[in-house]
Amino acid sequence: MTYPKNFIWGAATSAYQVEGAARTAGRGASVWDLFCHTEGKVHGGHTGDVACDHFHRYASDVEIMAWLGLKAYRLSVSWPRVMPAGTGAVSRDGLAFYDRLVDRLLDAGIDPWVTLFHWDLPLDLHHQGGWLNAQSPQWFEAYAAQIVDLLSDRVTHWMTINEPQIFVGLGYGTGIHAPGHQLPFSEQLLVAHRTLLAHGRAVTVIRGRAKKPPTIGWAPVGRVCYPATDNPADVAAARIATMAVTAKDCWNNTWFADPVCLGHYPEDAMALFGRDVPTVAPGDMELISQPLDFYGVNIYSGEPVRAGGPQGWTPVQRPPGSPQTAMGWPVSPESLEWGPRFLYDRYKLPIVITENGMASHDVVSLDGQVHDPARVDFLARYLGALQRAIAGGVDVRGYFQWSLLDNFEWAEGYRQRFGIVYVDYQTQKRTPKASAHWYKDVIATNGASIKPRSPRVASAAASPLGI
Ligand code: FCB
Repeated sequence: MTYPKNFIWGAATSAYQVEGAARTAGRGASVWDLFCHTEGKVHGGHTGDVACDHFHRYASDVEIMAWLGLKAYRLSVSWPRVMPAGTGAVSRDGLAFYDRLVDRLLDAGIDPWVTLFHWDLPLDLHHQGGWLNAQSPQWFEAYAAQIVDLLSDRVTHWMTINEPQIFVGLGYGTGIHAPGHQLPFSEQLLVAHRTLLAHGRAVTVIRGRAKKPPTIGWAPVGRVCYPATDNPADVAAARIATMAVTAKDCWNNTWFADPVCLGHYPEDAMALFGRDVPTVAPGDMELISQPLDFYGVNIYSGEPVRAGGPQGWTPVQRPPGSPQTAMGWPVSPESLEWGPRFLYDRYKLPIVITENGMASHDVVSLDGQVHDPARVDFLARYLGALQRAIAGGVDVRGYFQWSLLDNFEWAEGYRQRFGIVYVDYQTQKRTPKASAHWYKDVIATNGASIKPRSPRVASAAASPLGI
């Protein structure tokens, strides 16, 4: 299996999920600190107070990345670590941490890819209304400017916001993520609009202030429908379904990506959302649709559809017993072929897979190793599907496995392990899992070590017994 020369093989984490050191070096609190310390919000009462203690162990973690041969590492900056109150004074110690981390990465030959916002909104800003405050895009702009001033002499790859769909939908809609609100849909859409404005302002700031020419993207999640068969009618149906907005929630691509890439909200959603649509002031869409250099996207799974039905597509039930991850997410490698295809066709930007991976119930076995064959199989199938997208003409620049380390999985706490490196949270010992050894080979061979496999997990090879 071949990948483009200079393909970016990476792994990703985010600040709150790995750093710990929640009360160290002047870090302010975020909405996630409060949420975790509120009874009943996070599984087992787990918190990110210590997490993987990456704040103190970053140097040895970079050694693990270097051993893996990572070309790039996607990290996020904790806003309240560098600006404890969200605006105004910066924490020198907080900034110094990212300074050291970036230097260490570069020394190891690993390119830092920096996400500005991976959900840990400073609590002080939340108390002023957070993203509902009309000032929030300006707050974000000022924070972005600090980070760009600090790091852009060395950092060239930037992502503004991670998965607006999820932090808006789960944080302000269902309430299962911080800050745990259940707002009317119109206010969720207002939060979304403000974060889109914040995105646009951040792009402008990075473009205008960066000391080295920046490469700018974002990292939304991709809701992917894939064709149940290769029949062109099913492919057309899957394309429509992937870009459709069919429910009054945030779980879609286009409400977020059309403004960013095309400069307007999608028509089907405008009609469906009706009076809930926020006021779009003159100039908003120009700001939101600042040119991007790549379309980052987090893809974990997809849903099969076929042609037919009033909307042109019909969901297809997966066979009973179809594989799923420990999160209960369907193992559906097709999503990593068709998601990038459809997004590339619509938005015409180079694609970077900013997250992909799976949770499994990993253990350290008696032999001291962590055997995670399901993850190796998962990654091989998904990367095979991505390769098909590339072979089909999609300009895919890179792939970031989620996650380098087992870490704090939001409302699931520590019970979900997404890492290719196992973390013992009692001792902080790191053990590369079998999947890490496998991924190391993949990177070293630029993908050639991945064995071609059937994309369709449900259609197993013919039984050797012929039954
Ligand atoms: C994504 C998040 C990331 C991680 C993975 C499993 O939604 O961006 O932080 O939790 O899911």
